[in-house]
Amino acid sequence: MPLVNLKYLMDRAEEGKYAVGAFNCNNMEIVQAIVEAAVEENSPVIIQASQGAIKYAGLDYIVALVKTAADNADIPICLHLDHGTDFNQVKDCIDRGFSSVMYDGSKHPLEENIRITNEVLALARAKNVSVEGELGKIGGTEDDVHVDEKDAMYTKPEEAKYYVDKTGVDAIAIAIGTAHGQYKGEPKLRYDILEEIEKLIDTPIVLHGSSGVPDESIRKAIERGVRKINIDTNIREAFVKGVHQAIEANPEEIDPRKILGPAKEKMKNIIKEKIRLFGSSGKGKQV
Ligand code: G3H
Ligand code: 13P
Ligand code: ZN
Repeated sequence: MPLVNLKYLMDRAEEGKYAVGAFNCNNMEIVQAIVEAAVEENSPVIIQASQGAIKYAGLDYIVALVKTAADNADIPICLHLDHGTDFNQVKDCIDRGFSSVMYDGSKHPLEENIRITNEVLALARAKNVSVEGELGKIGGTEDDVHVDEKDAMYTKPEEAKYYVDKTGVDAIAIAIGTAHGQYKGEPKLRYDILEEIEKLIDTPIVLHGSSGVPDESIRKAIERGVRKINIDTNIREAFVKGVHQAIEANPEEIDPRKILGPAKEKMKNIIKEKIRLFGSSGKGKQV
């Protein structure tokens, strides 16, 4: 199937009250693991590439890998730029075949974020490409944030309403207590903020930093309107564990396929688990 945009997936997810997994890719094995998992679950899927992934693999390789995977799969697949902070790079992704982009203007003051998001939207709309925006500061688990600083990082519901009214983005990433990377303790999600935002806006809500968030918290977030869930760290962990295990089992192995193959299977397993948790299994090919 040709790539689909994020709005197409979000409209269907809203109707069915489930979330679509957005899994980060950096190389061929990860792309294959994501697509094979989604095909086996008959689920729609978002394959996303960060600026770091593009720097590592190259934009053309990412587009070619994901388009090849989509052409050979009969499920809806969206290719999405994750945390694009550079306008020119976002434009490049739109021009070179991404079906969705995130413009992350969260480091800017609100009005500046809105202004640049609208410039991205003008380019994206002309090519039927979707746009995800961000409000609030999601940060990383390694960030040393004091409790009193946390309040300033959460998305303010009235600002979220103002932002979506002024932009019309197709999805909005919010900060409600999740962070990127491996959690030291259990993340505490601010469902009160999520509920307030969900009441104020109709735009699909995106949860970042979702690796390591307990299943029950993910279910509660979906019940409260989260429709796109980003997972990267869990895939990294599975990949590296798979590589370690393969080398430990056979330290003399010199065939990379015998090391990366089992690592790919480990990634597939965790991605399938997440797809089932998000409720998107069986929502892929509609017969
Ligand atoms: O949002 C962060 C993602 O996990 C991507 O991480 O920038 O190291 O590729 P990265
Ligand atoms: P994790 O690496 O914590 O799963 O976060 C992924 C993410 O939010 C990508 O944008
Ligand atoms: Zn993120």
